[in-house]
Amino acid sequence: MKLTAEQLKAFDEQGYVFFPDCFSEFEIALLRQEAENILRLNRPEIWREKTGAPRTAFAAHTFSDVFGLLARHPRLVVPLQQLFGEDVYVHQFKLNAKAAFEGDVWQWHQDYGTWQRDDGMPEARAMNIAVFLDEVMPINGPLLLIPKSHKQGVFEAGHDTLTTSYPLWTLDKDTVTRLVCEAEDGSSAGIVAPTGKPGSVLMFHGNLVHASPPNITPYPRKIVYLTLCAVSNHITKFNRAEWIAHRDFTPIAPVDDGALADYARAHQVAAE
Ligand code: SIN
Ligand code: MN
Repeated sequence: MKLTAEQLKAFDEQGYVFFPDCFSEFEIALLRQEAENILRLNRPEIWREKTGAPRTAFAAHTFSDVFGLLARHPRLVVPLQQLFGEDVYVHQFKLNAKAAFEGDVWQWHQDYGTWQRDDGMPEARAMNIAVFLDEVMPINGPLLLIPKSHKQGVFEAGHDTLTTSYPLWTLDKDTVTRLVCEAEDGSSAGIVAPTGKPGSVLMFHGNLVHASPPNITPYPRKIVYLTLCAVSNHITKFNRAEWIAHRDFTPIAPVDDGALADYARAHQVAAE
């Protein structure tokens, strides 16, 4: 999947691109089932909310064949090879549960702010690609993005280790208000919440400011975040666990486009 000129322009101007229907319901059924199994495991890579509900499973691509295929999927990898003009490797792999009733807030932040400060990543030549495993609705804790906020580099941030179970470099209210009300070009950027069916994909710039509210509904909101980094831009500090910020900079060799569907057929996952 190559990005069109129009998508490249939208990405440059707005800081994100949304692809509804990127993965089929058949492919997603496989991923969702695997995600539910993983979130029930008891292992150090699986972090819980303060209530005990699952929050984030890290590095599932290293211990699950299904997520191993997703991390090498050409629909995710090829657009980033195109954008960065070189090979990419997996910097991080997260399955965020945002569990029904218990999924907690993600405060306003920039992903690259953490990768730069904590991992010594030289430039914002890495980004998250979100794959929706459940329907993301306005009501179940969708990702909130501030369009155009990727244009001004890394903002000052405070290290929040208290609000949730996951430490994060978060932005203050004045910065968020300024970015929402007055973008770099003088327009009012506002806030967008891309919503859509399972199988939708959202790519967003490493400096795009984003957050998500708690999920107080009975509808879970599982999203996988594959973080791909240009190989020449690999991290230089190894402060965090290897399964949070990977140290294997081997370029990804993409699998076949049909790899997930083939796997599902071979393992007789619910009929097509
Ligand atoms: C993130 O920004 O890394 C996660 C946000 C979310 O899953 O809502
Ligand atoms: Mn983030």
